[in-house]
Amino acid sequence: MAKKLFIKTHGCQMNVYDSARMADVLAPLGYAKTETPDDADMVIINTCHIREKAAEKVFSELGHWRIRKHAAQARGGDVTIAVAGCVAQAEGAELINRAPFVDLVVGSQAYHQLPELLARAERARVKGTGGRGILATDFPVDSKFDHLPDEISTAPGPVGYLAIQEGCDKFCTFCVVPYTRGAEYSRPAQAVIAEADRLVATGVTEIALLGQNVNAWHGEGLDGGAWSLGRLLRVLNDRFAKTHPQLRWRYTTSHPREMDDDLIAAHGEVAGLMPFLHLPIQAGSDAVLKAMNRGHRAEDYLRIVEKLRAARPDIALSGDFITGFPGESDTDFEQTLELVRAARYAAGYSFKYSARPGTPGSLLARQVPDAVSSERLYALQALLQEQSAAFNRACEGRVLDVLFDRPGKLPGQLIGRSQYLQAIYVSDPSLRIGDFLPVTITGGYANSLAGEIARREAA
Ligand code: SAH
Ligand code: SF4
Ligand code: F3S
Repeated sequence: MAKKLFIKTHGCQMNVYDSARMADVLAPLGYAKTETPDDADMVIINTCHIREKAAEKVFSELGHWRIRKHAAQARGGDVTIAVAGCVAQAEGAELINRAPFVDLVVGSQAYHQLPELLARAERARVKGTGGRGILATDFPVDSKFDHLPDEISTAPGPVGYLAIQEGCDKFCTFCVVPYTRGAEYSRPAQAVIAEADRLVATGVTEIALLGQNVNAWHGEGLDGGAWSLGRLLRVLNDRFAKTHPQLRWRYTTSHPREMDDDLIAAHGEVAGLMPFLHLPIQAGSDAVLKAMNRGHRAEDYLRIVEKLRAARPDIALSGDFITGFPGESDTDFEQTLELVRAARYAAGYSFKYSARPGTPGSLLARQVPDAVSSERLYALQALLQEQSAAFNRACEGRVLDVLFDRPGKLPGQLIGRSQYLQAIYVSDPSLRIGDFLPVTITGGYANSLAGEIARREAA
């Protein structure tokens, strides 16, 4: 009988991708995914370590799973508990100590080994050592990508994620990612294309190319040389342009330092590339950027924005920001607001600085008081909301291409994403998930838009 696998995913889109791949790895063992935790024979909590709050969630969630496991054991069964992702990678040993009922802790580069690890966990349990869970958090010498199955066990739906790059060598002083994901690795173009073929065969309409530093991709090209992301995008677009003219592409997350002219030009030339780019800067003051080890100045960033708009005038930009990085003064923060005003974002994500264990930032003097970071966060959020509301309001009356991928809260309502990645709500009894339709925008607000299906003539 099929065993039921429940996966809870936290964190970024890379974790969403990893969760899907873990399901692929376990499918040949007879595990089928379930959306109901109560049915689960096995749970994987795929964790995020980026900020303190994200990391804390793991332990409270594990508390619930411990109760489920003990209840199942009382009935003569069991629930296998695995912790994966970035908390597993960063705090695996502590996890096993604090939560001895966890069967398996598997890091971000080791999950292709899940079948062997599960077998080991099973043996440990049979032996009745009362022993500890299995810890697998090494960074193996060869890439997990060479060992993942080709088969996609569950169709992803309208949007497919495709990891083309992983890890990070940038070492921003606030960030755990270089430690939780390891060194930068680019998959060869051949492997990326093969996976794109498989995703397209499942019926996706959008493919998001993923990497912690996706625009640093420099994988082996089809000709044996190193390619750039601009080149890869052109090849992918051309491959499907005739057979799947609706297919659209985006990539995330990009670092300003890797935004080369060829990639910028691709935004004007690659028809299937969405007019959207998530390009975090984190702060607008050069002193703070330097302390963060970002490796560029505010004006370099604004120059890139200018070039992107020259290449693709309607491009929508989003960014990430951190308030209260150690040493950030009022004047520094004012420069973040100035940069936001100059860049004009369609969407922005701002976070209060969270000192992460093991990062250089956590050791810096002049940590900013929490109340000050919060106050700055609210001011920044207000400005970003104003900008997204303005961007969305300017879309009223326009017809946007919306890919519907989620149910809305109201009956008959679905939520989709436009080419600018805005969330669009439409109520229409004929709508189905996966529909990709022209939608006339009737209302634009800070976080969403309302619309109705455009009549054919209008499209
Ligand atoms: N690879 C991406 C970022 C991944 S983390 C990049 O290079 O931009 C996503 C976002 O979380 C970051 O852009 C940053 O804004 C935020 N973040 C990361 N570490 C943080 C920390 N210690 N405190 C607060 N926010 C943080
Ligand atoms: Fe973290 Fe910086 Fe690497 Fe992004 S570029 S993942 S913020 S270290
Ligand atoms: Fe979180 Fe790891 Fe992604 S720390 S943001 S899940 S790379």
